[in-house]
Amino acid sequence: MPLNDPGTAATFPTGFLWGTATAAYQIEGAATEDGRTASIWDTFSHTPGKVSGGDTGDVACDHYHRYGEDVGLMSDLGIQAYRFSVSWPRVRPSGSGPVNPAGLDFYSRLVDSLLGRGITPVATLYHWDLPQELEDTNGWANRDTAYRFAEYAGLVADRLADRVQVWTTLNEPWCSAFLGYGSGVHAPGRTEPVTALTAAHHLLLAHGLAVRELRSRVASAQVSITLNLSAVRAASESAADRDAARRVDALANRIFLGPIFGAGYPADLGNDTAGLTDWSFVREGDEQVIASPIDVLGVNYYTPTLVAALDSHTMSDGHRTSSVASAWPGCEETVHFLSQPGPYTEMGWSVDAVGLHELLTRLHRDYPQVPLMITENGAAYADFPDDTGAVHDPERVAYLRDHLTAVSRAIEEGVDVRGYFVWSLLDNFEWAYGYAKRFGITYVDFSTQQRIFKDSAHWYRSVLTRNSVPAEDHVVTAHSIVSSTAAGRLASRSVE
Ligand code: FCB
Repeated sequence: MPLNDPGTAATFPTGFLWGTATAAYQIEGAATEDGRTASIWDTFSHTPGKVSGGDTGDVACDHYHRYGEDVGLMSDLGIQAYRFSVSWPRVRPSGSGPVNPAGLDFYSRLVDSLLGRGITPVATLYHWDLPQELEDTNGWANRDTAYRFAEYAGLVADRLADRVQVWTTLNEPWCSAFLGYGSGVHAPGRTEPVTALTAAHHLLLAHGLAVRELRSRVASAQVSITLNLSAVRAASESAADRDAARRVDALANRIFLGPIFGAGYPADLGNDTAGLTDWSFVREGDEQVIASPIDVLGVNYYTPTLVAALDSHTMSDGHRTSSVASAWPGCEETVHFLSQPGPYTEMGWSVDAVGLHELLTRLHRDYPQVPLMITENGAAYADFPDDTGAVHDPERVAYLRDHLTAVSRAIEEGVDVRGYFVWSLLDNFEWAYGYAKRFGITYVDFSTQQRIFKDSAHWYRSVLTRNSVPAEDHVVTAHSIVSSTAAGRLASRSVE
């Protein structure tokens, strides 16, 4: 695939939005300040053995106190938009009781600080930090949680909608449902396949209800949901391998895309999971709520997924996974997630920009009506300051260059991509990996809270200033589908 054409700059349309992204629990710290109560990630990270190194988000990047400095960093880089998330247990501590004005004040100050620097705020309402009290009443397995979320969305909008136009309901509901309630590698750490499917539905219901809440308050709101969609590839053209890819596509992608875009849940997903559930948790009218129109679809992309049929041969090789808690209900006996050779990021995820191009062109083919926004893309590498205090991260620069080139090529081919947010502004708490994985374009010394721009931050500034990835930066590293390598990101998270 000719993504790379040395000598030709990868350009972006006028008005293309350049941003960075973070999430509340990963950067804020101040876990017990000003009325905030525990989220499921506080509970999970404080449970021995759940997070690498026993790390927690108690302090994280101390962004709650240092947000002014962090907005200053973005301003220095010329960042145009900042995607942050609002912490539900900071704003409405019990999940369902009175609002906490001090919590809302923090986001109000943050928004003012952004606007004061000419940076557009992009608010995500849920980036995985469910109030623990709601998990105590069965979390996302409880239909009521969807209604509590819609109320919370309204409370946040009441306070911020005079200044925030761009809203995202949920970040990556696949992870909330299938890593949180399926494989259990994310909070709340439950391993119940049917609950994972139920949670996915309640998350989607929450999304649809929140879309309506936001629109009723902000007529001009730009509303979206962010999905971690997967470029799913079959290991061969065999019918069995293609069927494995179909199954994973249903559970990773179409379970969300179908209902959101008005087609309801895919019939094949119902068949694949018929042995587990009759889907009676989907009530009359739910799919209409979920299909409430959105203005833009947020796409998070890191790496593709490669699968094959789990046949008797692979099972006898010891690859059978049915006894392991799975993030893929209904696929345990049928799908084998393949490991591939590198190059890898520090997460063990393959570097494969072609997968992003595949995903964008597929979305445009299947849902041509909806504009797309890359709401996360980036890579973890083992970055540290050298003797001069500089942080050189050539691999991240190459990763970003290749993926931005893929975005530019997709735009040239007619895909409507409106913007790109690097994950992440800062090194931060990378969920079950704790502080061991550094995704930032800014290095954070977690003992002093010092921030240092990595080379990738300077490079990103030059790209967004020119609105193009210069030709001289443009090296041939994109992989073809055949030679692409490494275990799928979703798979690697799901088998941790
Ligand atoms: C995404 C999450 C984000 C971060 C990146 C690396 O799945 O949305 O918080 O962990 O992966």
